[in-house]
Parts: sequence; structure tokens; C-alpha cells
Amino acid sequence: MSTRTHEILREVMLQEIKTAKEKLGKEMVILGHHYQRDEVIQFADFRGDSLRLARLAAETDARFILFCGVHFMAETADILTAPEQTVILPDPKAGCSMADMVNRDELEEAWELLIDTYGDPPFPITYVNSSAEVKAFVGQHGGMTVTSSNAERIMAYALRERKRIFFLPDQHLGRNTAYRLGIPLEAMKVYNPREMRIEGGEAREDTKVILWKGHCSVHQRFDPVHVRKMREEHPGIRVIVHPECKFETVQEADESGSTEYIIKAIERAPAGTKWAIGTEHNLVYRLAKEHPEQEIYSLNPIVCACYTMNRIDLPHLHESVMNVLNGERKNVIRVPEEIASWAKVAIERMLRLG
Ligand code: 13P
Ligand code: SF4
Repeated sequence: MSTRTHEILREVMLQEIKTAKEKLGKEMVILGHHYQRDEVIQFADFRGDSLRLARLAAETDARFILFCGVHFMAETADILTAPEQTVILPDPKAGCSMADMVNRDELEEAWELLIDTYGDPPFPITYVNSSAEVKAFVGQHGGMTVTSSNAERIMAYALRERKRIFFLPDQHLGRNTAYRLGIPLEAMKVYNPREMRIEGGEAREDTKVILWKGHCSVHQRFDPVHVRKMREEHPGIRVIVHPECKFETVQEADESGSTEYIIKAIERAPAGTKWAIGTEHNLVYRLAKEHPEQEIYSLNPIVCACYTMNRIDLPHLHESVMNVLNGERKNVIRVPEEIASWAKVAIERMLRLG
């Protein structure tokens, strides 16, 4: 296809999405995660981090929720909406590699081992970046979900309730947050699901947090060396990273927080502040465009973008919007009731605590 034909096609898609949105009015709402491409996010009625999007899904009365994000986020939206509302993920293959690092069978095995080892059940906490069936297990066992913006508050609560936390699937968010709460690294253990064992020697009575050995393949690629290089090349630069980054990277950075936190930090900073941001590229480059008064760099420009977030592009969005307009039900995300009911317990506990 020639570049010109490609451009014309894009123009047609942009125009048709606009017109369809006008026709559908309040019938359809488009929710967009901050990591979405510019060509997609421009059509979002609301943008947010995963906590904000979950709250928006719970509040909207639109009949169709077009979720521009990844699979676990669309599942959460379905769990929180009424049965007559329909959640659509423009590309059902838009998953999250971290969420795929734990499934219910593995979790059940781990749970038994932890009870055998420590005697009493830990407080299970799952990052929202997990499947509905993992959330359901956590809900059934008295636990709750967290996002990167409320993990600290919820882990503090959990430690008042039980002696230990079992945190999954992101070891980095769990470790970074627990450390901020004053828990030393020696009081944290890693559960290795492949080897079905707790790493790092004997189980100790003073263990406070057991971390599932999972990670985000995007954020794990920001290293302390990138922070040091940025500081050398741009004296005075502030480094801000997502808490899915490794412990050592977060320790070297000036600040860490959720996507919403990062955006607010940039907005609040005085003009002329230099920033190196360690998170997904779509967000970093959008912030650089929207804030020409700041000097913004990616902490590691050769780090990959989130491949799955980027699966949702203009053609996928266009197809989904046209399907809604034409009454076709495609790429609907529906969590089976027996899973959704327990997953909802875990999510609502989180929403109540903040
Ligand atoms: P936020 O909750 O900060 O939006 O993060 C979600 C996510 O998937 C980060 O990789
Ligand atoms: Fe999942 Fe990482 Fe992509 Fe976030 S950035 S959706 S954690 S793979």
C-alpha cells in the first residue's frame, strides 16, 4: 500500500470514529490507559492509571465500555459493571506478560506450601495485573487487590491484620512497597513458582512478606546504570520511575510512583526541570510533547515499549467502534459469574480502603 493510500485510510478511520462517537453519545464510553498510543488515547473519554480506570468503570452507566488497555483491566471493568453493560477490548490478544506469570493452579500449590511452612495463612494480595481467577482466589482467602497507587496503604493494612503478606505476581512492586513501609530486605522471601519453593534458605519466623517471582518485562529493563548515566549527562536531572522497576533502580531514582503519580509530578514541577522517566514509552513521549516547558527523557531509550498495550492501534479501535455502532458484539470480555463474584470481593475491598 502506498504511503498516500495509507494516509487516506487513516483519515477515513479517524473521521468515522469521530462520527460514530457523536452518534453513540452516552451509550458508549472509551476508557484509555496512559500507556496507549496517541492515535488511540486521543479518543478516550477518560484516561487513567489502573486504579482510576477501575473506579471509572464502576461508576459509568454507559451501555458499552470500550476499554483501551490490557486484558486484566477489561476483566476488572467487566467485574465492576452491571450485567447489562458490555466491556469490549479492541484486541483480545492485548494481555499482560506479568499477569500471565501466575495462574490459579500454581497459586493453590504455593498457598499449601506457605501454610505448611509458616503454620498460619498469610494475607494474600494480588496486584491488579493478574487474571480474574487469581483475584478470585485472593478474595476467597480474605485478601484483596492493589494497584501501584495504593499498594503502600493496603500492605500496611494487611500487616496489621496478619503476620505475613503473600504478594503476587510482581516481586518488584511488592519489594519496593514493603521497603518503603520499613520492612528490611531480610524479612522478605521470594516464592519461585517454577521450582515450587521459597528461595533463600530456611523459612524464618520473622519473614513479613513472601513475593511471587514475577516481573514486568518492560520495567525490569531499567537499570541503576541508566540512572547514573542520566545524572552524568544531565546534571541536576530528576529521575522518576514506576515501582514495577527493580529495587536497585528505584533506590537510585529520586521518586517512584504509578503512571498517574508520574504525570502529576511533571505537571507540578517548575518549568525548566529536567526529568528522566522510567516507564512505558508512549507515556514518556506524550509527556515530553505535552510539556515543552520541561526537559523530558526516557530513562532508557532503547528499552522496549509494552508490546501488548501497543496491540491496540487505530485500526483495532476503529473496528470496535464501528461494531458497537452496527450492533455487532465482538471482542466482548465476560468473566464467568463464579469467578467474577469472588474477584469482585477482592477488588471492592481495595476500593473501600482507597
Ligand atoms: P498503573 O497502575 O500505574 O497505571 O500501572 C499499570 C501497569 O500495567 C504498569 O505497567
Ligand atoms: Fe503488563 Fe508490564 Fe505491559 Fe504493564 S507494562 S501492561 S505490567 S507487560
